[in-house]
Amino acid sequence: MGQAWGFGRFGGPEVQEFFDRPDPGPGPGEVLIRVAVAGVNPLDHLLRAGLVPGLDGGRPFPRVLGMEAAGTVLALGADVDGLAVGDAVFGFALTGGGTYAETTVLSAANTARIPAGLSATVAATLPVAGTTAVDALDQLGLPAGATILVNGVGGGVGLAVARLAPSRQLRVIGTGSAAKREQAEAIGVRFVDYTAEDVVTAARGLVPDGFDGIVDLVGGPSLRAVAPLARDRSAVIAVGDQSVAELGGRSVERRLDRENLARSAQLALEGVLAPVITAIHPLSDAPAALATVENGHASGKVVIKVT
Ligand SMILES: NC(=O)c1ccc[n+]([C@@H]2O[C@H](COP(=O)([O-])OP(=O)(O)OC[C@H]3O[C@@H](n4cnc5c(N)ncnc54)[C@H](OP(=O)(O)O)[C@@H]3O)[C@@H](O)[C@H]2O)c1
Repeated sequence: MGQAWGFGRFGGPEVQEFFDRPDPGPGPGEVLIRVAVAGVNPLDHLLRAGLVPGLDGGRPFPRVLGMEAAGTVLALGADVDGLAVGDAVFGFALTGGGTYAETTVLSAANTARIPAGLSATVAATLPVAGTTAVDALDQLGLPAGATILVNGVGGGVGLAVARLAPSRQLRVIGTGSAAKREQAEAIGVRFVDYTAEDVVTAARGLVPDGFDGIVDLVGGPSLRAVAPLARDRSAVIAVGDQSVAELGGRSVERRLDRENLARSAQLALEGVLAPVITAIHPLSDAPAALATVENGHASGKVVIKVT
């Protein structure tokens, strides 16, 4: 039995609640873990609102929030290879376990060992934001010296892309509100404050010949405004807004497998994918942690330290 935080029906923050639940039994291909740290992501509140039916799996209520976690393996389900009880691991709760909880089940195929020297706190940020940054830059496949626009640079994925880009000798122009400037500039981003200047005019002034690639974390009208800044529309990669295809761009192709997780952990260990963690909340403070992300203006990664 352990404490969990989730929701009893679809809706806004008012449907959120703490409750106790028995440790979930790991099914085939799953591992039960004691959660050390859970990452907080925009997808969490979208699932709570019932806006991502394809990912819900028709699970019963109450459901536990959270998609990613790091922790220690307590038990293995059937057909699990390469992981053992006692391993420190991180990965995705893709089968409905939810990670804002003292114990949960992770999908073994989407879970990797935490390498020695990497903290659980950092590892917990890698499944969603860390590997998304790796996938987006892999998909762009730009040569050294190329210039990219990161639209929404101040959030979890945006800062991860900005941290990773220099290792590929990419120059980054990033957009965000004023509060994101200092953090972005500290890691070498040429920053454009979308609340103070017209992004398209400012970006064109900085890169008159057009961008070699765009990684968009904002979507909607903002994506539509910046997409024409790419020299080649197929080099516009949207992470959240699938309507990017209408603009000639592409949605990020995600790789959630163990190998990609292990690669992201190695990059984190080398300091190349060092996440910017701006808030660490206890589980009792999960409502505040999710509210920070749900307001749409998060800085870097927010995590919940469970044990
Ligand atoms: N496909 C996938 O597997 C996948 C994986 C990860 C994330 N996602 C999606 O990708 C999106 C970003 O994720 P995230 O974790 O980085 O979110 P996040 O941490 O909430 O960051 C979003 C950032 O965008 C900034 N922003 C908002 N409006 C903006 C605008 N008009 N121009 C520039 N910046 C703006 C926000 O702050 P300021 O406004 O203060 O600058 C915030 O820093 C979300 O939609 C998420 O669901 C998808």
